[in-house]
Amino acid sequence: MFFIWENGFKLGKHPPLAAKIKTSFVCQQCGSQSPKWIGKCPACDAWNTYVEEIIDSPAKSDQRTFSGSAFKHSAKAVLLSDVAEQRGERWLCPDAELNRVLGGGIVPGSLVLLGGEPGIGKSTLLLQLALQLKDFRVLYISGEESEAQVRMRADRLGLPMQHCYILTETETTAIFRQIQQIEPQLIIVDSIQTVFSPLIESAPGSVSQIRQTAGEFMRFAKDNHIPVFLVGHITKDGSLAGPKVLEHLVDTVLQFEGDRHHQYRIVRTLKNRFGSTSELAIYEMQGGGLREVSNPNELLLTRQMAQSNGVAIGSTIEGNRSLFCEIQSLVSTAAYGTPQRSSTGFDAKRLNMLLAVLEKRCGYRMGSQDVFLNIAGGLRVEDPSIDLAVCMSMAGSFNELPLPENAVFAGEIGLGGEIRPVNRVEARIAEAARLGFTHIYLSAFNNLKGIKKHPIEIVQVNRLDELISLLF
Ligand code: TYD
Ligand code: MG
Repeated sequence: MFFIWENGFKLGKHPPLAAKIKTSFVCQQCGSQSPKWIGKCPACDAWNTYVEEIIDSPAKSDQRTFSGSAFKHSAKAVLLSDVAEQRGERWLCPDAELNRVLGGGIVPGSLVLLGGEPGIGKSTLLLQLALQLKDFRVLYISGEESEAQVRMRADRLGLPMQHCYILTETETTAIFRQIQQIEPQLIIVDSIQTVFSPLIESAPGSVSQIRQTAGEFMRFAKDNHIPVFLVGHITKDGSLAGPKVLEHLVDTVLQFEGDRHHQYRIVRTLKNRFGSTSELAIYEMQGGGLREVSNPNELLLTRQMAQSNGVAIGSTIEGNRSLFCEIQSLVSTAAYGTPQRSSTGFDAKRLNMLLAVLEKRCGYRMGSQDVFLNIAGGLRVEDPSIDLAVCMSMAGSFNELPLPENAVFAGEIGLGGEIRPVNRVEARIAEAARLGFTHIYLSAFNNLKGIKKHPIEIVQVNRLDELISLLF
């Protein structure tokens, strides 16, 4: 074995100041620390997430940043009414879907985190945003791709690029020096896991580095009133890589949902200090970048499968939009041992609950059946108002009978088998009528007084077993 000695010290070991360097084991999932290695994190219960990192005392590293002074705050308490009012100014992007998830446009000085699986379109979306804002000087910092690669992507998008600078640097001091020179009005960092601060000795992508670099960008954004977009990687289990502190630090968290094999890309707001968190944006990945889907219902519903059994159309509300989704299920006799339950786009626990309701309240022998449930188009729905459609699709597949053509279902199912009312019923009815559905099935408890007449038949039912005997 060979050792390389440099200045009398083995390379890779720290020089004499090693005595002063403090290390600690940091959970890569939640950021909690421990003086020695432990297998299971007591804070977030994750296994094997502790990694040794060189840490500076947080107080020291907070002072030593290159991104400018800390917030311009005073040590004196002031009356809230005396604080200068912030203009509720927002920049509208040409991309209406992005405006929607940001809560009505880009807020100057905000820090936005965009997460998602590799290859889903994070870099494409942000480069597209950079190029679309042609009246702004934009700096795109890429730690993952070369200048030529970004140029190739920009050519593919076919948008003007005279106003957009590209920087392939990952060290924050050099980045902030460039920022001082170029004076951009919008900054994009692709990705936060690749940039590192020389003030901290941990490797790029480690919890301490992410916390430090994101903190530097945050102070820069707040002090200079410039919006910064960060791209964040996502871990195997689908959460944003790096500690939760990153999510706490930023103003807005946007996340690409689903996987890259789906035709549609959905961006959901997980956190927003400047708007609602129930919004989602829908895009379609095409040869020339991400195209906004402004009328998602016409795409989500293919209606090719309408006549086959096990397909039901459910109605859900996402943000301000009424969306319809096609629920497909396959119920078949379990061939071996324990029956399988699998669901895509729908909560597996809720599926089990609905199966129990079908078994107990409607007399369906689901215990011996394999059940596969899928929401078409890659949408993940948490709104319980699709319960009724899920149950009807499973009952249809069990009975091997199709549901009536052009029917929509909207209702939550209670444990007693009752159909519970849904919110925003008028929006659902109006959208169903607009799309040419002929029947909508709702709870008998939904109050329809004062709702405008639409060319659609509204059927109100009390209980799930009633509806099943009505339709089959
Ligand atoms: P990318 O934006 O690099 O994803 P991420 O930054 O999240 O890793 O890649 C998106 C994928 O989309 C990539 O596999 C290539 C494809 N793509 C298109 O289909 N059309 C396009 O115009 C572009 C730019 C990419
Ligand atoms: Mg990328």
